[in-house]
Amino acid sequence: MKATFTSGKLATSGIAVIPVFEGNKAFGSAKDYITAGKTQFANAKKAAKFTGKAGQRFDIFAPAGSKVSRLHVVGAGKKKDFNAEMFAAKTTAKLLFAGETSISFHLDGFDLSPDEAARAAVGARLAAYRFNNHKTNLSKEKKPNLTSVKVAHDSQTKAKKAYDNFHGPVCDGVIFARDLVNEPPNVIYPKAYANRVKKLKDIGLKIEVLGEKKMESLGMFSLLGVGRGSERESQLVVMRWEGGKKGAKPAAIIGKGVTFDTGGISLKPGSGMWDMKGDMGGSAAVVGAMIGVAKRKAKANVIGVVGLVENMPDGRAQLPGDIVKSMSGQTIEVLNTDAEGRLVLADALHYTHTKYKPQAMINLATLTGAIIVALGHEHAGVFSNNDGLAEQIASASAASGERSWRLPLLPEYNKLLDTPNADMKNIGGREAGSITAAQFLQRFVGDTAWAHIDVAGTAMKNKRHDPRETTFGTGYGVRLLNHWIADNFEG
Ligand code: BES
Ligand code: MN
Ligand code: ZN
Repeated sequence: MKATFTSGKLATSGIAVIPVFEGNKAFGSAKDYITAGKTQFANAKKAAKFTGKAGQRFDIFAPAGSKVSRLHVVGAGKKKDFNAEMFAAKTTAKLLFAGETSISFHLDGFDLSPDEAARAAVGARLAAYRFNNHKTNLSKEKKPNLTSVKVAHDSQTKAKKAYDNFHGPVCDGVIFARDLVNEPPNVIYPKAYANRVKKLKDIGLKIEVLGEKKMESLGMFSLLGVGRGSERESQLVVMRWEGGKKGAKPAAIIGKGVTFDTGGISLKPGSGMWDMKGDMGGSAAVVGAMIGVAKRKAKANVIGVVGLVENMPDGRAQLPGDIVKSMSGQTIEVLNTDAEGRLVLADALHYTHTKYKPQAMINLATLTGAIIVALGHEHAGVFSNNDGLAEQIASASAASGERSWRLPLLPEYNKLLDTPNADMKNIGGREAGSITAAQFLQRFVGDTAWAHIDVAGTAMKNKRHDPRETTFGTGYGVRLLNHWIADNFEG
């Protein structure tokens, strides 16, 4: 969906969305439409019993005094509660299949910031997102009609700037991440995934792909153990964006990219296993975030690392009880082959902090079912060894609207990973499952300021209520990471 910004003049085609606030207050061009078709508007409003309460709406087709095909009048509620992004998302969801190709939101004439105007375009784009790549006989009624969104705002240039310099590129990243998560596992397996990422050199990212031979020579037997049962070669992909000062320490973002998680020899039950195509949602957020960073030409150095493996049972698969040596030198007793994400991240985290010496690093992973038990699908779980970093994440969360909630780390939890047979085991037992998973990761980050975001409940969703989340893959994390980088590493 293409986004453009206009001053407060009347649109000449498509649907014009007219916000009317409580107390019947309309502003700017919204008011001009109403004035132009005064009698018609008054009659329609009366018939619709419209008062301006949030969520009320009615249409006027072929409106008098303007060239658009319809006015869509929407109750915008109280001005102080107005959220342009959600307003645009809800309205787009209602009108996506209305048969018109363009929609214009008339948000001029009142004190909306240019940033919020830009976010209205994002709300529309996210609500219009569909994943129909594999539908061969989609009926006309199910094909979205809207292809362009216009936002009218008093500071057209500033709104466009906010969109071009931040929200638009970040939204491109969200959509790329959603596609990665939604694709089936026979399309997105480690090599195919790496090939998709390689193409991002076109937007100025430097891409390096490490195959199994290279990872063996580096001693990454924790990650490699997970891929042993798979016919598909494991990959570690490093994306670099060098937009900052030469030599300035980078921000690093790392993602779990299990392209399918059967559980391995500790096999998962069959029902619902198909959701595990989304077990690369953390990595998709990292790739999407790097797209945002590159397309908005961020003035920062940023490293993105994704560990891509397929977790399969097989005659060669690793066994419960196997002991593997990680790149860090620490040994791990693999008591459950379904606790594989942490094994992948152990080597990815060690590699990243020893090779790139980041100022701080954040990993995202669909790591535990237990985080869904704790927080449902509304918050991701945050774990960190650094209070300052945890606060930065909380404020990036607030700025982006991608909700997160911090949970604790403690030596007492860490102890639950002890085993007589190796330096640690890969499961901690029934209690505090998301925390022991995080404690496991912490053993591979050294002194680096680090945070782990468990996105098992937020990166993929079968039930959704937010109009911006239209498919299984949500793209969660792309926006949060871009706010984090923009606020703490740029300028
Ligand atoms: N990918 C899963 C976690 C998951 C579960 C993500 C449900 C999304 C929805 C992870 O690899 C896993 O299997 N974790 C186990 C850990 C256990 C064996 C300690 C879990 O959560 O059951
Ligand atoms: Mn698993
Ligand atoms: Zn997994």
